[in-house]
Amino acid sequence: MNIVICKNYLEMSCQVAGIVAESIREHVDLKLGLPTGETPKAMYAELVKLFREGNLDFSETVTFNLDEYVGLSSVDPNSFRCFMNENLFDHINIRSSNIHFPDGISECFEDECQAYEDSIQKAGGIGLQLLGIGRNGHIGFNEPGDFIRDITSKVNLTEDTINANARFFKTPSEVPSTAVSMGIGTIMRAKSIILMANGDSKAQAVKEAVKGPITPHLPASLLRLHPDVTFFLDREASSLLEAK
Ligand code: PGA
Repeated sequence: MNIVICKNYLEMSCQVAGIVAESIREHVDLKLGLPTGETPKAMYAELVKLFREGNLDFSETVTFNLDEYVGLSSVDPNSFRCFMNENLFDHINIRSSNIHFPDGISECFEDECQAYEDSIQKAGGIGLQLLGIGRNGHIGFNEPGDFIRDITSKVNLTEDTINANARFFKTPSEVPSTAVSMGIGTIMRAKSIILMANGDSKAQAVKEAVKGPITPHLPASLLRLHPDVTFFLDREASSLLEAK
């Protein structure tokens, strides 16, 4: 795995946006796996800036988002779909038919999850997968546990994740306790993976992902088994990597 330590959040975001932009220029129909959350916001803002300056064309780009809350429709302001519209999709020339999202209000999650996997496969697989990391080491909504979920599945969120995500809701009780998430296998089948982490609150998870045992109890550690993964970190998130 590669590790790039950036001097701050903005530099990390611009570097990753630069790689995404370069990948889109090289492969106009790039299949891009996308995260939500606080971490990727400035990276998305940089992509929007590059688009507005005329330096980037998303007309053939195909996206697959990592996850969505169960019970929230795509127009719910707390849905990840809404987040993506506000932070990226509404500001660039991506075609709506090229945007893919797990369905949070499906009647049959098993079928829906399989259909999501099928659509990724039909597109030829994900070329570049971007990720954040949870304070508990989760990637997507693959929470720490005794086993690995291969494909997109309906998952239970841990209390830590619910508490961490409560900042996006009016009250913690509004945070859904379940979600639909790409599986670890879905993520690992991407050709190339970039994980971004910033801030002190991610330092312990980053340290364990990089230096700890490779285990589903720290899902991001499994990324070390991938042949092309890079962690982009700010100084705070990398601060425990040198410690014994
Ligand atoms: P955050 O979430 O970017 O809001 O910190 C990351 C994650 O939970 O994967």
